[in-house]
Amino acid sequence: MNKLQNSKTIFENALKGKYAVGAFNFVNMEMLKSILHAAEEEKSPVIIQCSTGAIKYAGIKTLVAMVKAEIENLSIPVMLNLDHGKTFEDCKNAVDSGFSNVMIDASHLPMHENIALTKKVVEYAHARNVTVEAELGQLAGVEEEVSCDTHAYTNPMQAKGFVDATNVDSLAIAIGTSHGTNKFKGEARLRFDILEEIEKLLPNYPLVLHGASSVPQDIVATAVKYGAKLEGVNGVPENILAKACAKNICKINVDSDLKLSYTAGLRQHFAEHPEEVDIRNYNKTAMGKVKETIKNKLKKVFNSSNMA
Ligand code: G3H
Ligand code: 13P
Ligand code: ZN
Repeated sequence: MNKLQNSKTIFENALKGKYAVGAFNFVNMEMLKSILHAAEEEKSPVIIQCSTGAIKYAGIKTLVAMVKAEIENLSIPVMLNLDHGKTFEDCKNAVDSGFSNVMIDASHLPMHENIALTKKVVEYAHARNVTVEAELGQLAGVEEEVSCDTHAYTNPMQAKGFVDATNVDSLAIAIGTSHGTNKFKGEARLRFDILEEIEKLLPNYPLVLHGASSVPQDIVATAVKYGAKLEGVNGVPENILAKACAKNICKINVDSDLKLSYTAGLRQHFAEHPEEVDIRNYNKTAMGKVKETIKNKLKKVFNSSNMA
């Protein structure tokens, strides 16, 4: 019977194989099934994750029960992560409920407070075989529960000190990505110089990239064709992401691309079948679009297909 795994082996293998594991957000059964089926078909390890907003929406017990039931007969490694836990209680609740990894995002706090809170979460989680992700530096962008106006790039020396002080299992770094669908004003650019400095100071250490949706323009075009208003949206180009995956970036967070794909699928279905009232039929179209988006990433960008 397939069980949830923590990040240890999943990231060790990603570092060795020079690929990244996709970390996809879900809020309901349809998104969860789309992610898991796409990864199983690609024979790729996968990370599924819920924000605190998703937990408020669906309920933590419901989400974990769905995950356990859905992974039982799969053959791929699956990790369930709490995305952007804000407090010790958020993380404790996720650990106690069956998550196999938690993120404590205290990057908005002064360094010593970030260290203290991360250490407290690490001690609680490690005692229960759960691994932990923390963040240093801040991403620009706005999400329901995550918002910041400007970038604060990660300082490599601080990253080294932070990992040594906290014993945290992976670190999210800020090198120019941002949450949401308006990532770059001008040309898209990530600070690979900072990434390389961090890699020198923390060799073979798993790093995480948030805000990594590429906002595929064909999906945007479908959504817009069927009535969505999405002017000037843009993401991280796939070739830049692929370059990051070959480095020590082991986990790539994607939420917006899935939201866009689901929305495009629903809009197209309703436009083409205005008589439709069967929930299963329009959800199936939307799930097909989400699956296609994920399979494309695993195969062509993250390089994790056939690595399970
Ligand atoms: O980074 C944050 C995620 O995209 C979560 O988004 O709060 O809308 O669930 P959400
Ligand atoms: P996107 O908004 O780029 O999909 O980022 C999602 C994310 O970082 C979730 O933690
Ligand atoms: Zn994030």
